[in-house]
Amino acid sequence: MMGNCDLTTDSNRFAKLVLMSVTIAMCFFFLLTKVVLQKQNNVKLFPWSQLSSTQPDTKIRSKKQNEEMLLKQREDNCRDYRISKQAIYRLKEYWSSPIVVPKYKLIFFWNEKSACTYWKKLFQFIQGINNTEVHNHRNGLTTLKSFDTCEIIKMMYNESWVKAVFVREPRERLLSSYLDKAHHQHIMYQLCRVNRTVTFYEFLEIIKTL
Ligand SMILES: *[C@@H]1O[C@H](CO)[C@@H](O)[C@H](O)[C@H]1NC(C)=O
Ligand SMILES: *[C@@H]1O[C@H](CO)[C@@H](O)[C@H](O)[C@H]1NC(C)=O
Ligand SMILES: *[C@@H]1O[C@H](CO)[C@@H](O)[C@H](O)[C@H]1NC(C)=O
Repeated sequence: MMGNCDLTTDSNRFAKLVLMSVTIAMCFFFLLTKVVLQKQNNVKLFPWSQLSSTQPDTKIRSKKQNEEMLLKQREDNCRDYRISKQAIYRLKEYWSSPIVVPKYKLIFFWNEKSACTYWKKLFQFIQGINNTEVHNHRNGLTTLKSFDTCEIIKMMYNESWVKAVFVREPRERLLSSYLDKAHHQHIMYQLCRVNRTVTFYEFLEIIKTL
């Protein structure tokens, strides 16, 4: 009998607990949806949101709490932007990650066979990096891959940061890469798994498949 009684009390308590959890979860979900939607659309979706933002209790909230909230919003705001995983992956790619010059708030998208040696040396020079290495991780340059995803997203969408790219006339760039790479057997093997030097037309066929 005692056992039964205990069981009933327990299950009552359990039911209450479940009800409470569900209510809290629903409230939380509702609030979250509201906040996210408002942030995304930058509009007040509910008639009482206008009210709630001017209600006296917000005035009572201390300055410190407000600052904390703002800080938290700032930390979270990279989630507002949509940027594909693939794009992030490419920005962080080991060999091609764009150069970051924090002092000038610059993100520079360099390209191979488009004066990249020149640009890398220039960025070393203006930052006082005295380094003979240019094309590897010992070149002393900061790249996007050393930032975490949220930081990258925020920098990419922040208008105070200049995003720049240097391009070259494509046919000239193609010829330049042919002269630079296709005449070296070991490079052709390394890059294209073709263990010989190739003619220009072969080169065109090969790069089509890359
Ligand atoms: C750069 O470093 C080399 C040695 O690594 C040194 O001989 C040279 O004077 C340095 N140049 C500058 C401008 O500091
Ligand atoms: C944008 O960058 C500037 C300079 O780094 C910084 O002061 C500002 O807070 C950033 N803005 C956002 C929305 O992150
Ligand atoms: C590439 O060819 C050279 C001869 O031209 C040969 O010595 C070398 O082993 C070859 N490398 C591969 C990976 O097949």
